[in-house]
Amino acid sequence: MPLSGRRILLGVSGGIAAYKSAYLARRLIEAGAEVRVVMTDAATEFLGTATLAGITGHPVTTDFSVTEDSVSPHTDLARWADLIVVAPATTATIARLAVGLSDDVLVATVTASTQPLLIAPAMHTEMWEYAATQRNIGQLAADGARIVGPASGDLAGGDVGSGRMEEPDLIVDAVVAALSDSLSGVSVLVTAGGTREPIDPVRYIGNRSSGKMGHAIANEAAARGAKVTVVTTSSIPLDPRIEAVSVETAQQMAEAVATVAPDVAVMAAAVADFRPARVADGKLARTEGPPDLTLEPNPDILQSVAERQVRPYLVGFAAESGSLERAVDKAKRKGVDLLVANDVSKPGSGFSTDTNEVTIIEADGKTEPWPLLSKAEVAARLWDLIESRLPPPS
Ligand code: CTP
Repeated sequence: MPLSGRRILLGVSGGIAAYKSAYLARRLIEAGAEVRVVMTDAATEFLGTATLAGITGHPVTTDFSVTEDSVSPHTDLARWADLIVVAPATTATIARLAVGLSDDVLVATVTASTQPLLIAPAMHTEMWEYAATQRNIGQLAADGARIVGPASGDLAGGDVGSGRMEEPDLIVDAVVAALSDSLSGVSVLVTAGGTREPIDPVRYIGNRSSGKMGHAIANEAAARGAKVTVVTTSSIPLDPRIEAVSVETAQQMAEAVATVAPDVAVMAAAVADFRPARVADGKLARTEGPPDLTLEPNPDILQSVAERQVRPYLVGFAAESGSLERAVDKAKRKGVDLLVANDVSKPGSGFSTDTNEVTIIEADGKTEPWPLLSKAEVAARLWDLIESRLPPPS
């Protein structure tokens, strides 16, 4: 059983999705885990403690009260747990976790723990998209938490949209992955974001890539224990264990990549194929008329990695608009082991979105379309696939 002997602390905060926590606790136990539960006061309005105590076989902690077993429930639980999963995590609990506001026993336990933290947000779409919620989730991810979901679908009160708590079975998968350390001893290089090719000190030629997909891939690899280097143009937060090299142009990216010899390289950056041949020293003035934008080629970073004598397991990306035929051809031409292709013209796919619908293309041209998933889930699935292809550790 994948969670045999593992001690999982389930934190439940107060949302309607709390009713699913009972099933989640059951599934964790079926996967071999020992489960204990800490609930916020609000959560007890949605689900009785007796239910979770009955399922887990342990009393549920709802406050800081001294019990026969513990004079300090939050620190004792924090030391007991191999991993904490907060499901559902409401906007309020996410906000308190992001700033470490430990005036409830759930947040206090998390702040007393040094173990992996998984957060499964559940709320209405507007609350999920609210700027502060996004900022707090970004902060938690940057602090090393793994965010599972939310999914899209039916919400409380008959609404439909993004914000639904991820299905318990997928949360169990995320718990298993978080505890697996399956990439320990593996070095990983990720390129991410869109390059900016200067025209003058003020202007550049760029593209719409945000770096979200590349950073999700890097964060997932770090969470699985890999030693990760990211060469990126993006400032989206990264797991603190990652070595990040900030660059702007394709040439800078190529130079940074050349210094790294990884076991696996995932080239998720959107690299400009051409750059202005001449970069003006000073800001170009309108009165000078239209600038000369003669372009010259940039290095093909992916190709230079593919041609190395000691070649990593190599994953390329291809953002296409329309047919994926070009991507199949690209997979063969570029000498990659896998190509992750996405049609950026599809809704929910491509630049700046939190979701992506990709097709995996093998070197021999075999294709496998994946459904619309969050970028974090695409990253998790991609690493599952890459891991299945890597030679066993010697
Ligand atoms: N890539 C790269 N260096 C470049 C251009 C692309 O490393 N100068 C990488 C990207 O990071 C991506 C893959 O190559 O992993 C495919 O990028 P894409 O722009 O789709 O490929 P191109 O070779 O530019 O093909 P085309 O312009 O014909 O679509």
